[in-house]
Amino acid sequence: MPQTRLIRVDSDTPDPSVIDEACRVLSAGGLVAFPTETVYGLGADAMNADAVRSVFAAKGRPADNPLIVHLADASQLGMVARDVPARAMRLAGTFWPGPITLVLPVRPEVPREVTAGLPTVAVRVPDHAVPRQIVQRLGRGLVGPSANLSGRPSPTTGPHVMDDLNGRVDLILDAGPTRIGLESTVVDMTVDPPAILREGGISHDALLTELGAVRTPDDVTLLRRSPGTRHRHYAPAATVVLVPSGDEQRLQRAVDEARASGKMTAVIVHTFELPVVRAHVVVRVAGDERSYAHQLYATLRSLDARGVSVIVVESVPGSGLWRTIADRLRRAAEPPS
Ligand code: TXA
Ligand code: MG
Repeated sequence: MPQTRLIRVDSDTPDPSVIDEACRVLSAGGLVAFPTETVYGLGADAMNADAVRSVFAAKGRPADNPLIVHLADASQLGMVARDVPARAMRLAGTFWPGPITLVLPVRPEVPREVTAGLPTVAVRVPDHAVPRQIVQRLGRGLVGPSANLSGRPSPTTGPHVMDDLNGRVDLILDAGPTRIGLESTVVDMTVDPPAILREGGISHDALLTELGAVRTPDDVTLLRRSPGTRHRHYAPAATVVLVPSGDEQRLQRAVDEARASGKMTAVIVHTFELPVVRAHVVVRVAGDERSYAHQLYATLRSLDARGVSVIVVESVPGSGLWRTIADRLRRAAEPPS
């Protein structure tokens, strides 16, 4: 089991010696957790099958859930993907670097561990100097699932990664809280019209504007194409109960029901001023979508850490980035399968 080191790194102008150290660990087949603009990733050399296998082991991730490959810029697409359609290049031009992942036909050189044996590979260029400089220096793509234990909320700070993966990774690069706080949007570019497999940091509306037509994850048959969406995701240890927004009485009733069975109960509101609901812990998250997204996973993790066993959450709207937040809350509220 490796001794995990955590090193602070500047997000805009990373110290070159830190980038060098990360590349040394990666070249030796080690694991390096790295910041992005969305959430922290668990990095390994994408071309090293053994290193990629150890990513699955460190996270406890099912082997049938493929990984995203991070690149430094779109000109590197040919390292892992082939037959890139023009509309994918257009999306890359508009949104990269940024929170969108494109699913494309995979090159045969990419280890099948990365793609879980699929004929496609998921690729993105993150809007963060640390992973882009690592990829540039390494000369290879960096696989990067979210750096959490499988099934836990994604980490948005270095210490979150430490909480989940201490003793399971070699190095954690800590550049402070991530800017967005939710994962990238995953879009399958091998079908026409392209299909959103996972909502994320680039909204459905922005994609629709860019592509003209796009299919959504509501299409059940498409869900089979994104293995990750079959697994339980984004969930705190506590049970999450969603209640319609703006209804003080229903919020209170949901809290009271949980408290009546002796459970430590928290409530997360965003439209009310405090205090409107009585619970063991009351959290008011900011009412704008960017701040809410930024705080969501950290809030769920801190409630877990306080030993809360039921979290009653006021529902959120369904457009723009709210749509992604609503998706994560819905998944968090699903019973374990
Ligand atoms: O923002 C993000 O995307 C973060 C940061 C670190 O980049 N990464 C991330 O990775 O969220 P992960 O592994 O937690 O989620 C990747 C999602 C999973 O749902 C996976 O099933 C899907 O992308 N995926 C990966 N490769 C795929 C492929 N070839 N076809 C369809 N879905 C794929
Ligand atoms: Mg994940």
